Amino acid sequence: MRLKDKVVIVTGGGVGIGRAYSMGVAKEGARVVVADIQEDEAKKVAAEIQQEGGEALAVPVDVTSFDKTRAMAEATLQKYGRIDVLVNNAALYSAIKKKPFSEIPEEEWDRVMAVNLKGLFLCAKAVYPAMKKQGKGKIINISSGTALGGTPFYLHYVTSKGGVIGFTRALARELGLDNIAVNAITPGLTLSGSQQALTPEQLTDRRRRRSFQRDQYPQDLVGTVIFLSSEDSDFITGQTINVDGGLNMH
Ligand SMILES: NC(=O)c1ccc[n+]([C@@H]2O[C@H](COP(=O)([O-])OP(=O)(O)OC[C@H]3O[C@@H](n4cnc5c(N)ncnc54)[C@H](O)[C@@H]3O)[C@@H](O)[C@H]2O)c1
Repeated sequence: MRLKDKVVIVTGGGVGIGRAYSMGVAKEGARVVVADIQEDEAKKVAAEIQQEGGEALAVPVDVTSFDKTRAMAEATLQKYGRIDVLVNNAALYSAIKKKPFSEIPEEEWDRVMAVNLKGLFLCAKAVYPAMKKQGKGKIINISSGTALGGTPFYLHYVTSKGGVIGFTRALARELGLDNIAVNAITPGLTLSGSQQALTPEQLTDRRRRRSFQRDQYPQDLVGTVIFLSSEDSDFITGQTINVDGGLNMH
């Protein structure tokens, strides 16, 4: 077990790919805090982990609120006494519809930035005191291959995911002295059941452009989260790992 007793917070951990991260780190022995704005979904995932003999706590959180992210960190410390890993996975993704940039309402732009970027900042701020005190920690930020490929009709989303890479690099430089690793993952289009429906033609085209010519599933990302959470990656920071079956290369 590569994460035995490590305390891992997964934001957006109750749904989609976040659910796969929660289940995956639990199987490696982590004590998982499933933190989600959809509290019922977080509770279901925590219950599932417990049924399988794992350790989990469901915590409601809105990552755009500092008070709520601080409460998430406090609930974690109260239950488990430490925070080893924060997986900054929560985002507005399946909730937003593609549209030409000139038709994106200003409020929608602001909301995407609030969840997808400010959310990372607030969650990092909330866990930082505990990680600093421990003398070690890991922050994993979920970006997207859209930031490398520049997907059209998603300007706010793509911009936010590009920001995640800059956030990762700058924070890694700042937190190195605290022995806190900060890395990012850029997943390719992942069939998590919650993204917008794709036509068979779009799926075929996507498969064809990958080196590994098949669809990508949440499980394809779990190993990288486990690696970045584990001691195997202790000398890696500020990096962006692209996990997309060889579609984008950087
Ligand atoms: N699915 C893909 O193809 C894909 C590709 C690249 C990157 N990603 C990224 O992977 C992550 C997960 O993707 P997904 O497909 O599971 O997305 P999703 O939209 O299905 O899930 C997003 C999760 O974030 C939570 N969330 C939303 N707003 C929140 C808030 N304010 N506070 C707390 N939680 C909130 C939701 O409840 C949900 O659990 C996201 O960061 C997404 O941008 C997804």
